[in-house]
Amino acid sequence: MPGIDDLETPAVLVDLDVLERNVARMAESARRHGVRLRPHAKTHKVLEVGRMQLAAGATGLSLAKTGEAEAFASAGFVDIFLAYPIVGAQKARRLLALADRVRLRVGADSVEGAATLGEVFHAAGRRLDVLLKVDVGFGRVGVAPQAALAVSRALAEQPGLRLKGLFTHAGHGYLRETPGGVADVGRREGETLAALAEALRADGLPIEEVSVGSTPTARHAMAVAGVDECRPGNYVYHDASQVSLGTCGIEDCAMTVLATVISVPAADRAVLDAGSKTLSSDPLRPRPGGHGWLLERQSRIARLSEEHGVVAVAEGEAFRVGERVRVLPNHACVVSNLHDRVFAVRGERVEAEWRVAARGRVD
Ligand SMILES: Cc1ncc(COP(=O)(O)O)c(C=O)c1O
Repeated sequence: MPGIDDLETPAVLVDLDVLERNVARMAESARRHGVRLRPHAKTHKVLEVGRMQLAAGATGLSLAKTGEAEAFASAGFVDIFLAYPIVGAQKARRLLALADRVRLRVGADSVEGAATLGEVFHAAGRRLDVLLKVDVGFGRVGVAPQAALAVSRALAEQPGLRLKGLFTHAGHGYLRETPGGVADVGRREGETLAALAEALRADGLPIEEVSVGSTPTARHAMAVAGVDECRPGNYVYHDASQVSLGTCGIEDCAMTVLATVISVPAADRAVLDAGSKTLSSDPLRPRPGGHGWLLERQSRIARLSEEHGVVAVAEGEAFRVGERVRVLPNHACVVSNLHDRVFAVRGERVEAEWRVAARGRVD
């Protein structure tokens, strides 16, 4: 069995002990709250990790892109929610083929967008299950809560569609600077959606599913009565942003990037063979602060270009050319999308090489 020392760099490592613990903990948390867990697999895009999540009790997976769903469906995954407003007849035809193979539901946040799917399903004598996306404060996609009733009524009347429920993603939790602030966002995420679901049911709409979820807000949102599904993604790996937000400790981070020091041009500067091609340029949240932390060091990656990670060497630390370091990235999900494979490690041993099967499936 090869060791970490045998790997070429840069290489993405996934610590199996930590991954298994993260998967088990979130599954247990969902069970305790009586909520279905539908992890967002965009974080890892790895079939083996998806199977691990299902084995721990997840009812299915969430994904964002049609191509990601196709990659998982081809590998035998049978229950997928595309938690993203899918639009267009070309996409609808792919969804139709997918719906033959998997229990499929998709997101919608407009009647116009959903109608482009409904027409194709209707013409085929089929109906597509949709969940309406509600914006609980993130300000990305989703209808405002005040508009949810009118849009739901219109969706429920569209041929070729079946309105199944509501979903939201409180991404604004990532900008809260205290754990209390994150908890507030999570509670409100759950309460807003549960109250809306009640109001829509009172209007006669068949709202069967109330789905919330992000990693920082999951434990707060899933504790709200009326929420029945949670879709955290990042929790499998965690990253420097989750540590900064107070979601977890460094010991709970499963993904690191193994890198080599390729240059030490000055005492206060060392350069790694991992730049934005490897680590992405995503900022640290909730406050920007460099491009990755070095494990067991105080030094941080201060600057990135595509193939270079420039480390600002902390007082009292030194680096030598050829030395290897492990970098905790700012955002694990985007790192997955940059790599064809990750190495599953236990301690210093490499136990498996996993293909990032749904990587780059952006369509
Ligand atoms: C719609 C949706 N649901 C769930 C998630 C999972 O959130 P997180 O990665 O914070 O766990 C995301 C992540 O971006 C998302 O966009």
